[in-house]
Amino acid sequence: MRATIPAGLDRKESEIYLRLDPERLPRHIAIIMDGNGRWARRRHLPRVAGHRAGVSSVRSTVETAARIGIPSLTLYAFSEENWKKRPKSEVDFLMGLLCRYLKAEVPTLNKNNIRLEYIGRLHELPSSVQEKMAWAREATAQNSGMVLTLALNYSARTELVDAFQSLVDAAARNGGVEHLKIDEEAVCRHLYTRHLPDPDLVIRTSGEMRLSNFLLWQLAYAEIYVTPTLWPEFRGTHLLEGIAEYQKRERRYGGLAGDGLNYHHGAKG
Ligand code: FPP
Repeated sequence: MRATIPAGLDRKESEIYLRLDPERLPRHIAIIMDGNGRWARRRHLPRVAGHRAGVSSVRSTVETAARIGIPSLTLYAFSEENWKKRPKSEVDFLMGLLCRYLKAEVPTLNKNNIRLEYIGRLHELPSSVQEKMAWAREATAQNSGMVLTLALNYSARTELVDAFQSLVDAAARNGGVEHLKIDEEAVCRHLYTRHLPDPDLVIRTSGEMRLSNFLLWQLAYAEIYVTPTLWPEFRGTHLLEGIAEYQKRERRYGGLAGDGLNYHHGAKG
């Protein structure tokens, strides 16, 4: 029997969707959005024009993911390294873009039943940006559909450092560090991503074959899909192509994949 096409998909998206097995959708997709600068350079535009164009890609990707019933989508928006190495003018532009995105997008997130979350060292972001983020999270907190997580000022190594510190602090509060028991589940409970299952699929745009310090613990068994498409050209159709490729690959472990504890199942990976 043919799958029913979810409401809201356009003709091209529907064609790709019909090739998918709706029973085997990834439970969590993580995306490294890359290539905004190159997209702008090819058009002789300033880099920030690429970031501005990238917002339409975010919108299309988020809506399509929600429409087809992906439970969790995580977008790598600003790495800690970006934040420290890019010119202040570009960082300021990105912060402004994020605030405008949050303000403009909350009604669409609510319409699509999407709940917003964040990961990263959020307390290092400008306080005005933190306020806008808190407002958007609150405004979508009641939604029960897809969880959209934005990685902001994020670094996977920093996340691990913070998790270990948090483990030690929790032990100190609960009877002392001599009782500290560290295993994989304990580490998971202290990661920024404790609200999420591990990603089944990670997508990177613009052809680069690197993880760039993104979710290093959580991506241990994820399928990696790299597309040459630059982020400002990425749309829901590209997301569906990535899912089709994911479904073509043989998953090498089964059972509880995506429950946040799936590292237990993957001796081979
Ligand atoms: C990488 O392209 C992209 C970024 C550092 C920023 C991503 C931001 C957006 C897509 C827009 C804002 C996001 C939200 C959630 C509102 P790059 O500049 O590293 O590209 P390059 O490698 O070609 O130079």
